[in-house]
Amino acid sequence: MIAVTGRIPDAALEMLREVGEVRAWESDDVIPVDQRNTWLADADAAVTLLTDRVDDAFLDAGPDLKLVANVAVGYNNIDVPACTARGVQVTNTPGVLTDATADLAMALVLMSTRRLGEGERLIRSATPWQWGMFMMLGTGLQDKTLGIVGMGGIGVALATRARAFGMTIVYNNRRAVDPATEAALGARRVDLDELLESSDVVSLNCPYSAETHHLIDADALARMKASAYLVNTARGAVVDEAALVDALSSGAIAGAGLDVFEHEPAVHPGLLDCDNAVLVPHLGSATVETRTAMATTAAANVIEVLAGRPPLNPVT
Ligand code: GLV
Repeated sequence: MIAVTGRIPDAALEMLREVGEVRAWESDDVIPVDQRNTWLADADAAVTLLTDRVDDAFLDAGPDLKLVANVAVGYNNIDVPACTARGVQVTNTPGVLTDATADLAMALVLMSTRRLGEGERLIRSATPWQWGMFMMLGTGLQDKTLGIVGMGGIGVALATRARAFGMTIVYNNRRAVDPATEAALGARRVDLDELLESSDVVSLNCPYSAETHHLIDADALARMKASAYLVNTARGAVVDEAALVDALSSGAIAGAGLDVFEHEPAVHPGLLDCDNAVLVPHLGSATVETRTAMATTAAANVIEVLAGRPPLNPVT
């Protein structure tokens, strides 16, 4: 039996039904733990969303599980060592959400630097306004520096977009990207301090892990230019949200565009008072095409593993 713990597109469910019995949660609300555990009791595979916490309690409920297929590229919701210790394979959905997430990151760069959220709020509040030479001036992107923290597929795709807006790219990553990509993007690898000090926009595109927890803390924010913007489409806890509220409200940085939050779905109340923060609800991969591709990728991994073959997108 295959337990699908959240609502996913029909195309993926149809693939799964070809290879076994499927029990699928059909609501957008998070599945109740009792229901989930009843299904896990005789599940060979679980398809999970990033709102599922796959921990010892989850694994205890599913003694026959061979695979947890997460419908996300990030897998910080899964205790991978606990899965490995029990012989449960873990897969994710890399690649298929690269463009959608890079598009959203670029949208947040534009929204924050051009104050589009603020402008929208002004119109919707029916406040009288008139075009003015100095009204709601933002910051142009041409000849500005974009610092990308985490130069995987999404970082590279964002850099490609930013180049079209005339930006210069610096990046911080454990490994250098291949020389041809670096040359095509005119990108320079720098240490994190140099990136923070020299960038006009800092974009977070790294995975969340113990090493990246609060990577952007009060010290890191203090290194950024007062005219700079922070964009986060990675995971909320890469940023110390309380320190970010301080930096935004004191003018230590100019603004932020956030798709993810430290205690999602809760948003730090201080952020709601920051007019210079653009806040959107974790929409990085939220296109019909991308969500379908993510779910069918997870289904393809289930099909491989239940047939006794290696998974397509293993996480270790
Ligand atoms: C979305 O945040 C993902 O990790 O796929």
